[in-house]
Amino acid sequence: MLLPILALLLVSPALAASADDWSKRSIYQLVTDRFAPSNDSAIPCDTSRRTYCGGSWAGIIDHLDYIQQMGFDAIWISPVAQNADDTAYGAGYHGYWSTNLDALNPHFGTDADLKALSAALHARAMYLMLDVVVNHYAGVPTNTTVSPVNLFTLDYTKLLPLGTQDDFHAQCFIGDSNDQAVLEQCWLGDEKLPLPDVNTEDPKVVGTLNAWIKRIVSEYGADGIRIDTVKHIRRAFWPDFVKSAGVFALGEILTTDPAYTASYLGAVDGVFDYPRYYQTVTAFGSTSGNLSALQASPSLPSMAPPVSAPGRKLLTAAFLENHDQPRFPSYASTDEALTRNAMASVFVGDGMPVLYYGQEQGYAGGADPGNREALWLSGYETNKPMVAHVKALNAARKLAIAKNSAFLNTPATWLQQSNPSALMLSKPPLLTLLTNVGANLSAAQTTWRIPAGMYKVNATLVDVLACEAVVVDGAGEDGVTEVKSEGGMPRVLVSAGMLSRKGDGACPALAGAGGSSGARGTGTGRLARGLAMLGTVVGVVGLL
Ligand SMILES: *[C@@H]1O[C@H](CO)[C@@H](O)[C@H](O)[C@H]1NC(C)=O
Ligand SMILES: *[C@@H]1O[C@H](CO)[C@@H](O)[C@H](O)[C@H]1NC(C)=O
Ligand SMILES: *[C@@H]1O[C@H](CO)[C@@H](O)[C@H](O)[C@H]1NC(C)=O
Ligand SMILES: *[C@@H]1O[C@H](CO)[C@@H](O)[C@H](O)[C@H]1NC(C)=O
Ligand SMILES: *[C@@H]1O[C@H](CO)[C@@H](O)[C@H](O)[C@H]1NC(C)=O
Repeated sequence: MLLPILALLLVSPALAASADDWSKRSIYQLVTDRFAPSNDSAIPCDTSRRTYCGGSWAGIIDHLDYIQQMGFDAIWISPVAQNADDTAYGAGYHGYWSTNLDALNPHFGTDADLKALSAALHARAMYLMLDVVVNHYAGVPTNTTVSPVNLFTLDYTKLLPLGTQDDFHAQCFIGDSNDQAVLEQCWLGDEKLPLPDVNTEDPKVVGTLNAWIKRIVSEYGADGIRIDTVKHIRRAFWPDFVKSAGVFALGEILTTDPAYTASYLGAVDGVFDYPRYYQTVTAFGSTSGNLSALQASPSLPSMAPPVSAPGRKLLTAAFLENHDQPRFPSYASTDEALTRNAMASVFVGDGMPVLYYGQEQGYAGGADPGNREALWLSGYETNKPMVAHVKALNAARKLAIAKNSAFLNTPATWLQQSNPSALMLSKPPLLTLLTNVGANLSAAQTTWRIPAGMYKVNATLVDVLACEAVVVDGAGEDGVTEVKSEGGMPRVLVSAGMLSRKGDGACPALAGAGGSSGARGTGTGRLARGLAMLGTVVGVVGLL
């Protein structure tokens, strides 16, 4: 019995990750064509051309250090299947226009390259998330004459491994319908580039898709899958598909409605928290965003599971940008303070954080295709405040997971603030202070009020973003402790005693009290002050 099991292990290098394992991870989402070319040449990339720029799987391998040093332990790459090359809207460089699920996209490299990427990730104990599209293919019309009866003619034999018209729903476009049957059975796309909708009611088609997902997951050692356009396929299709994949499945359900999103629990293992995305960009997208509206909106992770999935917790992925949405700074003006607050709310709130490549470099491209810039044009610079911000947020989350076993299962709660520009988010052991006051109003400074009794008077907290100490003085009205923002920046507070002498990756200079100073670019005065304060409390057990 031993031999077959060993053989299986050799061909399947996945890390056997469960949903719980994934929930502790931070995911870096990259567009394979735009992350790194194989030879690090500075290939120009005009996003408006909607075609391949030259990124590859081998290129990703060369830059895993860059991703890992920011604290990410999983990557989500573009769909790997062969795509339509020549359409009315350019090429399928993004991966969402499959033509043949059984062939790899040759622009991204070879079968060996993709396996090498998987192995390189696993050697670093990082996870690989494959993006999969089974709702639709891309059909390049062979006849673009539009007539009311037959909009276009497609060569279905080119859409593999299906290959006949019966494997697809009858032609009709979804338009802007909210009708669930139309969403599931009609087509995305338009007359110029129709996206033939797979007949996922047909048992033969279902069998083909289930066999396909099982094969690619095991062949490339995927640790999880991200599923595109989940709401466009009947719910009952998903459980067997996910079971066939045999790994964690995170679903995209594009909606502002938390209840609708939650209704897919059980169909898939986890969902992108799109409702929170919309609330967050509205709240932090400008200095006049309504923070109370964010605070008042229902939180997906605290919602009851649907009757179809009793007792199951809703695992969510939180994000501020992705390949489908304009990058945050493209509408949040260029105010980095707003961006940093929005990012902090994503990373230290509920759900697995997902960072869309390039956000750490301050990329600001607008709607698709502007938001798919080539990362190599940034030079992968790591000595930047935004990169440091990402690192600190990942470190804070990892510290919280290590210090409080209930962290991941305790939904974050808002604490009432009197200042309309201030928000306070409690997810023990983290206390996050957010503001949309913006960098330019820093003279007026936001003041947050930490309620009396939350920490002992004279306890020292550390803001792991600025690496500054904050002493709980209880000196405000009703015993509150007032904390000011500087330059409109957020703060993420932990009890100083939680930072070990070795630092756990958060505020290494502060935590290693008496150790090296100036490790972070936050002004030596502040750092020295923090060090002096911390010197007296190192070893004190956290009070939460
Ligand atoms: C680098 O790779 C690109 C695309 O793969 C290729 O066109 C180019 O010639 C290569 N440059 C060098 C210097 O090898
Ligand atoms: C395209 O389709 C239309 C309507 O079905 C038909 O009249 C026309 O002959 C077709 N054209 C070609 C080039 O096949
Ligand atoms: C902000 O949102 C809250 C909660 O939804 C609402 O009661 C309030 O009227 C809003 N304020 C403004 C100025 O729109
Ligand atoms: C802040 O104000 C300065 C001077 O008015 C202006 O140039 C800059 O664009 C503003 N920055 C933001 C983020 O609004
Ligand atoms: C807090 O520290 C101050 C100054 O060291 C001291 O006077 C005060 O008694 C302390 N309060 C408590 C509750 O420990």
